[in-house]
Amino acid sequence: MSARERIVCADIDELGRKAADEWVRAAGAAIAGSGRFAAALSGGNTPRALYAVLAAVPFRERIAWDRVHLFWGDERAVPADHPDSNYRLAYETLLSKVPIPEKNIHRIKTELGPEKAAAAYEDSLRTFFALTGGAWPRFDLILLGVGEDGHTASLFPGSGAIHEEKRLAVATYVEKLKSHRITLTLPVLNHAANVFFLVSGESKAKVVKEILASPTKLPAAQVEPADGRLLWLLDAPAASLH
Ligand code: 6PG
Repeated sequence: MSARERIVCADIDELGRKAADEWVRAAGAAIAGSGRFAAALSGGNTPRALYAVLAAVPFRERIAWDRVHLFWGDERAVPADHPDSNYRLAYETLLSKVPIPEKNIHRIKTELGPEKAAAAYEDSLRTFFALTGGAWPRFDLILLGVGEDGHTASLFPGSGAIHEEKRLAVATYVEKLKSHRITLTLPVLNHAANVFFLVSGESKAKVVKEILASPTKLPAAQVEPADGRLLWLLDAPAASLH
């Protein structure tokens, strides 16, 4: 079970720079080891701070983008060009600004509809990671955020998706948002070599305290890689109660 490492940054900009440093470190180690870096991007807004730093000099030049393969931790069941799309957010802030080969971008194909998109995404994971039998993919890095309700990726409190123990990715209906999502499952998150939570803002202080300071069954608290680094990158407002 991994300990929850914490780094508290002064503000969102410093969080972005620190996360970029850690990204470069993880990418360098993975590429030196296996020749590639397989990372799952998070949705939401906080990762914008990281994506902006990675897309700009000097970090842009510090990464061997042709060795980087990008996936998503979750996706909203909307078209890739929809304002709510996690792919569109990453495309606009990062993918369109770095020399990553198109074939290295493993988008969740939401145009198939939620269930078929989840199944197709599982197939792409099995192919990329050359999985056989019941093996789990081991991402070099999975970026995650946390909602005020303790959700992470699209694993929301009370959702059946949290208890999924066989599938790599599932479609899930989020009642409170009245929307369908596709999400990696907890076993995949917990098989990663590195999991970075990026958390910013006063509104997250209560849930950060609950997760970092007490035993809780909130979905984000159940992310504890069995054999990996678990790093919570917080800005001061998000860490203010902890
Ligand atoms: C999503 C994310 C979600 C996000 C949290 C935090 O698709 O929205 O996967 O889990 O990480 O809601 O979002 P913020 O970073 O924008 O607060």
